Amino acid sequence: MASTLSRPDRYALVGHPVEHSRSPLIHRLFARQTGQPMTYELIDAEPPSFETAVRGFFAAGGLGMNVTVPHKGAAYELSAEVSERANAARAVNTLSMPDGVLRGDNTDGVGFIRDVTVNQHQAIAGRTVLVLGAGGAARGVIGPLLEAGPAELVLANRTLERAQDVVEQFRGIGGGLTAVAFAELPARGAFDVVINATSAGLHGDAAPFPGSLVTPETFCYDMVYSLRETPFVEWAKTHGARRAVQGWGMLVEQAAESFFIWRGLRPDTAAILKQLVR
Ligand code: ATR
Repeated sequence: MASTLSRPDRYALVGHPVEHSRSPLIHRLFARQTGQPMTYELIDAEPPSFETAVRGFFAAGGLGMNVTVPHKGAAYELSAEVSERANAARAVNTLSMPDGVLRGDNTDGVGFIRDVTVNQHQAIAGRTVLVLGAGGAARGVIGPLLEAGPAELVLANRTLERAQDVVEQFRGIGGGLTAVAFAELPARGAFDVVINATSAGLHGDAAPFPGSLVTPETFCYDMVYSLRETPFVEWAKTHGARRAVQGWGMLVEQAAESFFIWRGLRPDTAAILKQLVR
């Protein structure tokens, strides 16, 4: 850690694009709240220059990085050592270099579960849960969701084979995980919890899901966040869901877990979340 005489410790987010990221603001607020002398910068790197960007940052004395789209898989491959949860997700969003070894971790899953269960007061245990999507975002939350003990966990994806691959990957962890194609969804009825982990709607297009998935009691969670209502949240409310939220809390909680890995301190996320969404 930095002394008052030395320069602040350096952290960064690497991704492409990154210019609109809220992570620098979140980590700045965490640092101020906990009195940590650190900076957090943005590094825009296209895929061919990802490895150079990471190695260069740590070689120059950087202490930790967050990794975002499209590099989470590449960060997993690059890490000399990975945590159990990063290994399960096959994706890394947090890098550190304890003892000179590049270590990859994944805080997305725990951040998601913390937001749903602590901030949103929603149980996963014993409930029927549907995850829409089978990309990196979905893979990051499947392990923690299974560990939370849902009555049933269904993974639906536009491309069925991708969902089937994810089910295969998580077979060892727990039962109750099945893959379905979007075309089968109208026949499945409603779920207690519906999670959007697709990038459909990221560019403002409508959510392509049948309204029969939700009742007024269904808790709908969009991993996407925006200052406006997201297409998925709009879709959920249109079909009667009383509780439909965006992924702001997941963003702050995954950042807090990364901060904990780097600094050994847990920020008060509720205060930061309020400041961010205000
Ligand atoms: P991420 O890391 O954000 O999950 P990804 O790995 O590219 O990104 O995965 C994107 C997910 O969104 C996939 O599940 C994708 O479905 P396919 O596997 O069929 O491609 C889903 N997706 C993207 N655009 C979509 C759309 N317009 N309608 C439905 N699903 C979509």
